[in-house]
Amino acid sequence: MFKVHPVPPGRLPALLRAMPKTELHIHIEGSLEPELIFALAQRNGIALPYASVEELRQAYAFTNLQSFLDIYYAGASVLIHEQDFYDMAWAYLTRAAADHVVHAEIFFDPQTHTARGVAMETVVHGLHRACVDAKAKLGVSAALILCFLRHLSEQDAFETLEQALPLRDKFIGVGLDSGEVGNPPEKFARVFARCRALGLHLVAHAGEEGPPAYVWAALDVLKVERIDHGVQSAKDPALMARLAHDRIALTVCPLSNLKLCVFPTLAAHNLGALLDAGLVATVNSDDPAYFGGYLNENFTQTFAATHLGTQQAYALARNSIDASFAPDADKQAWLHRLHEVFESFVEHDY
Ligand code: ADE
Ligand code: ZN
Repeated sequence: MFKVHPVPPGRLPALLRAMPKTELHIHIEGSLEPELIFALAQRNGIALPYASVEELRQAYAFTNLQSFLDIYYAGASVLIHEQDFYDMAWAYLTRAAADHVVHAEIFFDPQTHTARGVAMETVVHGLHRACVDAKAKLGVSAALILCFLRHLSEQDAFETLEQALPLRDKFIGVGLDSGEVGNPPEKFARVFARCRALGLHLVAHAGEEGPPAYVWAALDVLKVERIDHGVQSAKDPALMARLAHDRIALTVCPLSNLKLCVFPTLAAHNLGALLDAGLVATVNSDDPAYFGGYLNENFTQTFAATHLGTQQAYALARNSIDASFAPDADKQAWLHRLHEVFESFVEHDY
């Protein structure tokens, strides 16, 4: 058992930034910065309904999940060629490396692109090539998770899966995202059963805006291994006990929750309460280009606004490694590095 020594509060932000961590909840289309949207629009001859980067950024004032999704899907419309998908993913992965992300499990939304006539191979090949380069050139391991859009039909999800299966070796699992309320997990029971039979990892967004019943259904009907967001679980003590008992990780995204008005302030966020209840909570950036911060900003802003300290920093980094789908040997190496970083902070001060 690793002993965590508290570091002085003034050193905590530096520790949060330096500690090795994984990112398990990042939508690659949500890492598309306004500058890259404009550059790709120009490269591909696409007209945007915004005159400038500043004007686009000013539109990033959201009241709930749907108000964000409308702008997020519009932003993704500049992605046409394999190189566009590569450039987007490479930009994220270099940014993640700077935040000491050692491993990223990256969501992508193929239906957003195939519906516009972009081929599945174009999307997957571009993203996968960036993942391969990230390992070789940045030392960051990266894997892809294909997300089904839950506002679309079960039939559409099945067709998307069929299109993706020839590329089965280029993604490790499937997820479920987009507008949650009114699109319960049960709608995708058969698609997830098929993915499970194929040996894919399973995750789903649940309990972001939707009720605890959606988290129960993600667990019991879809049989997911992690819950994305899941913050509404705190409303249901029996669900909290289940998540803790089964060590089902929650991929929590504090700045996303703030920007989409799930919590009124970061100080009011329930991340600390989830950890106190024994849940395997992790911190993630969701859609960093839209929510004002990559992974380290999520950590430092949340810790600055709450009473979280060194113990919670360690728990969150450790949870992120434990809850990843990476091989055990990689997890052991990252844990070793995590312990070295925590010890180096203690040795400097005492
Ligand atoms: N797609 C991108 N970000 C999302 C989020 N936070 N919730 C649901 N779908 C999303
Ligand atoms: Zn998300």
